[in-house]
Amino acid sequence: MRAPYEKPTILRQAVGMMNKFGRPAAVVPLGSIDGVPVRDLLARWGSPLWVVSEGTLRRRCREMQRAFALRYPRVQLAYSYKTNYLSGVCAILHREGAWAEVVSGFEYEIARSLGVPGDRIVFNGPLKTREELATALELGSRVNVDSYDELFQIEELAEGRGRPVDIGLRVNVEVNYPPWDRFGFNYESAQAFEACKRAVASGCIRVVGLHCHVGTYVNDTRVYTTATEKLVYLAGLLQTELGIKLEYVDLGGGYASRNTLQSAWVPGEQSCPTFDEYAEAICPALLRGHWKPGDLPRLILEPGRALVDEAMSLAATVVSVKRLRNGEKGVVIDAGVNVLPTAWWYRHDVVAAQEGGTMAEDVHLYGPLCMQIDCLRQSVSLPPLRRGDALVIKNVGAYNFTQSMQFIHFRPAVVLITDGRVELLRRREDTAYVKELERVPDHLRS
Ligand SMILES: Cc1ncc(COP(=O)(O)O)c(C=O)c1O
Repeated sequence: MRAPYEKPTILRQAVGMMNKFGRPAAVVPLGSIDGVPVRDLLARWGSPLWVVSEGTLRRRCREMQRAFALRYPRVQLAYSYKTNYLSGVCAILHREGAWAEVVSGFEYEIARSLGVPGDRIVFNGPLKTREELATALELGSRVNVDSYDELFQIEELAEGRGRPVDIGLRVNVEVNYPPWDRFGFNYESAQAFEACKRAVASGCIRVVGLHCHVGTYVNDTRVYTTATEKLVYLAGLLQTELGIKLEYVDLGGGYASRNTLQSAWVPGEQSCPTFDEYAEAICPALLRGHWKPGDLPRLILEPGRALVDEAMSLAATVVSVKRLRNGEKGVVIDAGVNVLPTAWWYRHDVVAAQEGGTMAEDVHLYGPLCMQIDCLRQSVSLPPLRRGDALVIKNVGAYNFTQSMQFIHFRPAVVLITDGRVELLRRREDTAYVKELERVPDHLRS
């Protein structure tokens, strides 16, 4: 058989970083995920395919829980649903003891449908309808108030109930730039203190918690120390001035994952703080508060990406390989930015799923959308690839499934691997599913 003709081009070869066996890291394949061959997964469930590792998810959750519990006696994780609210993923984390942190009535309903008791749901976010607030307060959820308008709404609900309701207050503090001051009440301008005063004055609201979420992918742990110190100071003030005894202090989420930001020099694997480092930044600062004996507040944490990013991969198949005008190589796969929106922020780790020789080449990695913007990596070092070869994009658990959209192509199936067993978490979309909500008016029917 004659080898296919390829027009010759002169290219600079990049050997890349050697691993301990002297092979460039880019050519070391990832043939299986948790012991299941990638080829088998794609053959059975179709390509592309999201693959969740139950083992990794549980491990990350335990690691975080342990790092904080070693340093503080009352720790509670509340998993941030928006990061990835696949029911199977949430259910695993609840089995590990995590509560739910939700930011909409929709997410609240998912948590309830999974059997999460109301008092194990933290309800945050700027939009909570009157009905959603009423339900959450009735079920004893921890509602962190975002604005005066919401506070007044709660006051009305509380008056109607004839008994006081418990709330937490979302506080924003100046710790990073640009500050996340659109959520909650500002600390530095004493707005947060004033809001607590207003709540207490109503006679029907008890402030039992302070909440602060400093940002996302925060890899400078000092930010958490500063935020904790400010909350501790405010807690002291609330105690002495208003007689408020807090039941919880919630430091929100924002803990980085091992992904590499587009703008970063250092790979995320090296720059991402460990859970121990985050815990060390928060717990001692919290313990320094002037808490009365026996009154240590519960420390709530709302991790998102740090728990789930590593636990999910996207397996995909090469559709075509081509030389671009300037001689560089373009590889098109069957998964695009519509299922990997984090490709805008991260230089995702991409590896071949089969042996492909020892020479790696920097390629442009494109998705299948007929759109110029559909580029997953501007440049990534990969071994030679052919149509039909499989690739794995690692650490895609956070903010991809929830922000993915059906656009030109369907969203793929999601499977879960548990001890080598593979189960479906969500089936692949199809035309009937996508068109289910639409109607064609009678006069347009032929
Ligand atoms: C209130 C709140 N908590 C937790 C999170 C989770 O953040 P991350 O995924 O960065 O941990 C977010 C995300 O922005 C959030 O808004």
